[in-house]
Amino acid sequence: RTKELEEKLSALQTTSAKPLRSSRWLNRPDDKAMSALYMDRYLNFGLTREELMSDKPIIGIAQSGSDLAPCNRYHITLAKRVREGIRSAGGIAIEFPTHPIQESSRRPTATLDRNLSYLSLVELLYAYPFDGVVMLTGCDKTTPACLMAAATMNIPAICLNVGPMLNGYDRATLIGSGTVVWKARELHMAGELDDEGVVEMITKGTPSAGHCNTMGTASTMNALAEALGMALPGSAAIPAPYKERLQCAYRTGLQIVEMVHADRKPSDILTREAFENAIVANTAIGGSTNAPIHLNAIAAHIGVKLDLDDWDELGHDLPLLVNVQPAGQMLCEEYYRAGGLPAVMAELLDQGRLHADALTANGKTVKENVAGKHSWDRHTIRAYAEPLMEDAGFLHLKGNLFDSAIMKTSVISAEFSKAFLENAEDANAFECKAVVFDGPEDYHKRIETADVDERTILVMRGTGPLGYPGAAEVVNMTAPGHLLKKGLRYSLPCIGDGRQSGTSGSPSILNASPEAAANGNLAILRDGDVLRVDLGKRRVNMLISDEEIENRRAETLANGGYGMIESHTPYQDLFRREVGPLSEGMVFERAVKFQ
Ligand code: FES
Ligand code: MG
Repeated sequence: RTKELEEKLSALQTTSAKPLRSSRWLNRPDDKAMSALYMDRYLNFGLTREELMSDKPIIGIAQSGSDLAPCNRYHITLAKRVREGIRSAGGIAIEFPTHPIQESSRRPTATLDRNLSYLSLVELLYAYPFDGVVMLTGCDKTTPACLMAAATMNIPAICLNVGPMLNGYDRATLIGSGTVVWKARELHMAGELDDEGVVEMITKGTPSAGHCNTMGTASTMNALAEALGMALPGSAAIPAPYKERLQCAYRTGLQIVEMVHADRKPSDILTREAFENAIVANTAIGGSTNAPIHLNAIAAHIGVKLDLDDWDELGHDLPLLVNVQPAGQMLCEEYYRAGGLPAVMAELLDQGRLHADALTANGKTVKENVAGKHSWDRHTIRAYAEPLMEDAGFLHLKGNLFDSAIMKTSVISAEFSKAFLENAEDANAFECKAVVFDGPEDYHKRIETADVDERTILVMRGTGPLGYPGAAEVVNMTAPGHLLKKGLRYSLPCIGDGRQSGTSGSPSILNASPEAAANGNLAILRDGDVLRVDLGKRRVNMLISDEEIENRRAETLANGGYGMIESHTPYQDLFRREVGPLSEGMVFERAVKFQ
């Protein structure tokens, strides 16, 4: 045994601080018949009475991988090593499926399922004899769904990410999953790539098992699970096929049993300090614009107050340190080999930007986990003093068009700044004419014929949680082919009440709330209206009079409001009745009272 292994094993607590939750099912002194009934079907697959009645922790393995969820499918293999870890530490594993969520193929949008998966996981964890749970996370919404459930249930819980895919390549050029889609679309619209070329180019981005290999929502949310302290340090970025991923699965199994013995619960880990650490980490990694939605939702379910002003105040004035697509150049294999999140957090720790004493799943503090773990690869993970970009966090924007929207500054390109932000009067503001689309179908129908030029702002509405149930990832819009053929080198600015893929590099203004379908002012915007976007003042305004705004609102409401497409399934209907705005995490408002 190595010294390191000895230390790891001896750090694991092996007796419980309090009676196990599972004994209320399996070891009831008052009613042996009930215990027998609760137990007998678990004997059916070979477990024994000795095992189930000897006060060994019963650990759920919440399996999110299946044929339907290919990003997380490698968990079918990883769960075996988790199980062995649980066994080695004296626990008993019970593996069960969670509601699958596959980002790339779920229609109308995978976000719709985050709350469904959350609700069903809460029911499973509540209803069955679990003392703790290993949550197998990965693809975008699987991670927040699990963390929200852990927050509500508050039994010992730890995440195990499936890990990113290996790098994609086109010859020697790195091709990042998700991010390549936007690139290929643009080349296609510019007439530089035919249909076959588009398919070939996009599928080169996905060469192996694992989730997206860019810093999209999956890599982001798993990094944030680790930054929160809800996963083993260094675990999030290990590529799925690497041997370290299987080893990490084993160690996660060992750890959860120790967490049960120590009674280390989500409420001990998911403190306000932990969320602040996650916001800070998100800027440094160039994290997804979906992160505020999900992190705020997790916070709401554990009873921590967190809002979008926190994201701007705590996260904006920090540097981008991670050179991974879409904000940077590399992919997650390089990021992992460069040290992953601990190397990023070591930089932030040195600058006093983290709560060093925040507790994590392994019983250690953030400082104990990451101090001194600086990267050796300064191309991929920069030193704090030599970042890829300063002030790289999200802006929280307000104004007469909406109460709240966010913008990711780390993807503002030099070309975009030159075209929009470098005017003489105010280097942080620009004005342009809006072209307004009612949902993605309208965009595809009209983009080539609409009056769009190099200084147009493209607006997408009807795509919030109510309008397009679940909030579609469609706000980042490609400019029309005639501009691309002329060599337009930047993304046109976009605004919308929907979301944008975490893999997109567009400097869009997203998640605008209230959405058009809730009769927010996006509903009254018209083609040709001028918008003033002032990033310095955090304002986005329609340059029309208050009186005109009132008149248009009255007119829209008199016509029955903005309206929305029909619900096509019972759950879509229920979702729309219960859901809150993106600005507050798109949670079911009646679900958060259970923390
Ligand atoms: Fe599943 Fe990107 S589509 S992680
Ligand atoms: Mg996505």
